[in-house]
Amino acid sequence: EQIEKGGYDHFMLKEIHEQPKAINDTYRGRLLRQEAIIKMAGVEDNMKKFLNANRIIIVACGTSWHAGLVAEYIFEDLARIPVEVEYASEFRYRNPIITEKDIVIAISQSGETADTLAAIKLAKSKGTFVFGVCNVVGSSIARETHAGAYTHAGPEIGVASTKAFTTQITVLTLIALRLSRAKGTISSSEFRQHLLELEMIPDKIISALKSDTHIKEISDLYKDSRNCLYLGRGYNFPVALEGALKLKEISYIHAEGYPAAEMKHGPIALIDENMPIVVIATKKGHYEKVVSNIQEIKSRKGKIIAIVTEGDTQVRALADHVIEVPETLESLSPLITTIPLQLLSYHIAVLLGKNVDQPRNLAKSVTVE
Ligand code: G6P
Repeated sequence: EQIEKGGYDHFMLKEIHEQPKAINDTYRGRLLRQEAIIKMAGVEDNMKKFLNANRIIIVACGTSWHAGLVAEYIFEDLARIPVEVEYASEFRYRNPIITEKDIVIAISQSGETADTLAAIKLAKSKGTFVFGVCNVVGSSIARETHAGAYTHAGPEIGVASTKAFTTQITVLTLIALRLSRAKGTISSSEFRQHLLELEMIPDKIISALKSDTHIKEISDLYKDSRNCLYLGRGYNFPVALEGALKLKEISYIHAEGYPAAEMKHGPIALIDENMPIVVIATKKGHYEKVVSNIQEIKSRKGKIIAIVTEGDTQVRALADHVIEVPETLESLSPLITTIPLQLLSYHIAVLLGKNVDQPRNLAKSVTVE
């Protein structure tokens, strides 16, 4: 097992560090920047269906559901296709309205999650085309779907999902970009810029990983907290949910993710000097709005850990701690802002002496209903 961990203390840490390579593996052979094209057989073969779809319904569970939420922003923003994101377990039991004019995208790392599999079968029974985004090749979901795209993240052993999440986002981004081009909802220069920026993501993750020691120091200060809030807006709202999920899963600290603007409708009541609040406050995407949220937190003495763009000064002046990440397009930012949140939960759990790779009560794949 020590050899399998490749010199890292835990699989989770190894998998966090594998993300630059995993993302590269995800887009290799699909993103052809010189030719300015994206090639994905499963999408190409079903292009008509995608272009004629009234809407896309994404079904998934857990972290994969969060990847679906990020995809909702990308698909609607770039490809202008209406998207709904559903927990597979809710979708399958509520007699959903779906027709052959809809497309279902099922996202699953393992390809074995019972609720997701059942949701797929239900959609198929209504004549709906189902596209799978799986990591495990030949898994039940990969076989049950009409077409799909693998994430190529490689085996993920840690129960808390890390590289599966960022590679799912990568695949979904490639699909959204391909459809945007086909629909003409994105200009050729915008498309090229996305390809260029996508290719720079692995290096930017490497750079984000350099904050590891700093994040460990912050973790030490907050490891004994009972609660933690995570806030983000737009593309980074699902990242806040995922950050909170990671902390809950492996450190057993109660954490909640919220869209920053919703803070005033409830979570703000929880804020006092004992509440750490992780805020994703990168430059692109509602920056000024997030800054005013940070001011509201500060005036209530909450402890602010902000994820900021390199060189930021405005948030730095307000926050208790800042963790810098390289700048990228807003639409690609979840791939970068997720990294410090993974490290934060990892270090807190390690400092608390928890079983990081196999947290209590959780399974890597939930094959029961
Ligand atoms: C379990 C795992 C999570 C995962 C979820 C969905 O709860 O612990 O990490 O996100 O199942 O799994 P899937 O394999 O369908 O992505």
